[in-house]
Amino acid sequence: MERSTKIGMNKTGVQMSPVDLKSMLQDIESNSAGIPDGAGIAAVRTTYIGEAEPVGTVPPPGTVKGAVKTGAKKLTGKNPEVLVDKLGERLAFERTGVRLYEAILTKFDATPDKLPGMSVEQLARFRDEEARHFKLVADALESLGADPTAQTPCADIAGIESMGLMQVLDDPRTTLQQSVHALLMAELADNSGWELLIALSEDMRQDQMAANFRQALQNEQEHLTHVRSWLEQSVRGELRQ
Ligand SMILES: [Fe+2]
Ligand SMILES: [Fe+2]
Repeated sequence: MERSTKIGMNKTGVQMSPVDLKSMLQDIESNSAGIPDGAGIAAVRTTYIGEAEPVGTVPPPGTVKGAVKTGAKKLTGKNPEVLVDKLGERLAFERTGVRLYEAILTKFDATPDKLPGMSVEQLARFRDEEARHFKLVADALESLGADPTAQTPCADIAGIESMGLMQVLDDPRTTLQQSVHALLMAELADNSGWELLIALSEDMRQDQMAANFRQALQNEQEHLTHVRSWLEQSVRGELRQ
């Protein structure tokens, strides 16, 4: 197996230049302002936070059936837009999940040395399950009268969060093992995302929805177990090599 971690020249650490390190430390000591405590950046952040508009809003249900349903829940003191926002978040992240698996399938194909236990069949199955989850969430939104094509605030944020993961997978230099680590982050988020959706749909007495989401969570638990094991076996294997 080709190693993911190789020995090379130290291009980033201070050990290569003890003289510069010494002068840098002297500069810090002689600087009367001392080490910054972060108060400056905190003040700037606070100003911006005070002036900022929200990331977005949740559109009201677009269909009569949905409006009646959400309206009825409103009377019981529930805010269905909370569930709609979190469904939007899951929708965005599951869509990214499909893209992540597509990207890792390509990397898997292009890498001669595979990771122990990893197979194209399993990767393809997990990708298809992410696509099914996407459809499941879209259907759930429609059943509430919400528009699955509208980007909710949490969907917007989920898109930003997953940008880094996509960048890791699409970087031609990253190894299969490094890509699997990005996948692990996605699967950890997937698992807690579904747990929260189950709780919210139960709170909203959406029993069928909760049952469907439990099924999705079972898939995600399986994804997580495998992704974690691919990574662990590969890294530990390299350590012993
Ligand atoms: Fe998923
Ligand atoms: Fe997943």
